[in-house]
Amino acid sequence: MKIENVGFIGWRGMVGSVLLDRMRAEGDFDGLAPEFYTTSQVGDAPPDVGCDAPPLKDAYDLAALARHDAIVTCQGGDYTKQVLHELRKNGWTGYWIDAARFKRMDDDSVIVLDPVNRDVIDRGIASGVKNYIGGNCTVSLMLMGLGGLFQNDWVEWMTAMTYQSASGAGAQGMIELMHQMRALSDGCSDLLSNPASTALEIDRKLSEIAGSDAYPTKTFGVPLAGSLIPWIDAPTEDGSTLEEWKGNAEGNKILGTERPIPIDGICVRVGAMRCHSQAFTVKLRADVPMDEIEDALAKANDWVSFVPNEMQATREQLSPAAVTGTLTVPVGRVRKLRMGGDFLGAFSVGDQLLWGAAEPLRRVLNILRESV
Ligand code: HSE
Repeated sequence: MKIENVGFIGWRGMVGSVLLDRMRAEGDFDGLAPEFYTTSQVGDAPPDVGCDAPPLKDAYDLAALARHDAIVTCQGGDYTKQVLHELRKNGWTGYWIDAARFKRMDDDSVIVLDPVNRDVIDRGIASGVKNYIGGNCTVSLMLMGLGGLFQNDWVEWMTAMTYQSASGAGAQGMIELMHQMRALSDGCSDLLSNPASTALEIDRKLSEIAGSDAYPTKTFGVPLAGSLIPWIDAPTEDGSTLEEWKGNAEGNKILGTERPIPIDGICVRVGAMRCHSQAFTVKLRADVPMDEIEDALAKANDWVSFVPNEMQATREQLSPAAVTGTLTVPVGRVRKLRMGGDFLGAFSVGDQLLWGAAEPLRRVLNILRESV
């Protein structure tokens, strides 16, 4: 089968826009006959992707969707829930590539992160799996950064303590963070302009602004700028959050582990814009020498970048400010912990919209185009 006729849904949203940008940049539209869908602007002009495409079609037009060899959607889980089942019920056998969580854990889906699980993807293709779903951003970025440890089966268990950016809550999260920053900055501008102001006066004013009814908290519910929120997504029955649960569930599914590796942690929203950072404690199966660990981490994939455990390199390379908008996943602060030679500490950063969302999708479309 040749994959040529591909439908795109949700391409105008934040992840969808990053996906189209990456596809344009990599020439992915060459040889494709793309068609673009909309939930509100049927008949409008399609986005410019360097090749002809018809006017926008209705995202709920099942007959039109069913003509595609593959469908790529960043429209969200509700859309998947509503449309995919109907398409399959009507006999559509094309490939469904999706950023949303809804299908991730189903047996008839593969979670895609090819630098880490190309073997799982290839087995899925060979066995006729038709649904290829991007993983949770935090999980994908953790596996990109620590891929070398998993490739060597060194991990007995691990924790990931996260520092997740506002973009994980969507475009409205990023915008709200900026509105909060502006409210704080505007409200303190007199104090900031006065050289006699003390830090404590400024801090009191900030607390007053952040506690006022006018302070913008519609998306996060509470202040994020100048603060943090140690709770992401819905609660689960065991006291973790869904975001924390995904580390274990999706992490093991991506890796295709026969014996699940326990992965847990605390997921925290911080005031970064679009890069998730994570601090890891890894219990190794053995006291693996540091040079072997560093070598394995550095060579795991083409995007991981090993940062020596030194002050200047860490400050310059291992931060959201350094990584934002790039595909590089630096991993650093790598050292044996006081608990013993089989305990490893590490820290990584990755762009939540690239490796955390759009990049695995465009890559699996290409893998499918080459493989089926
Ligand atoms: N759930 C993630 C977050 C984003 O809230 O940061 C998407 O995987």
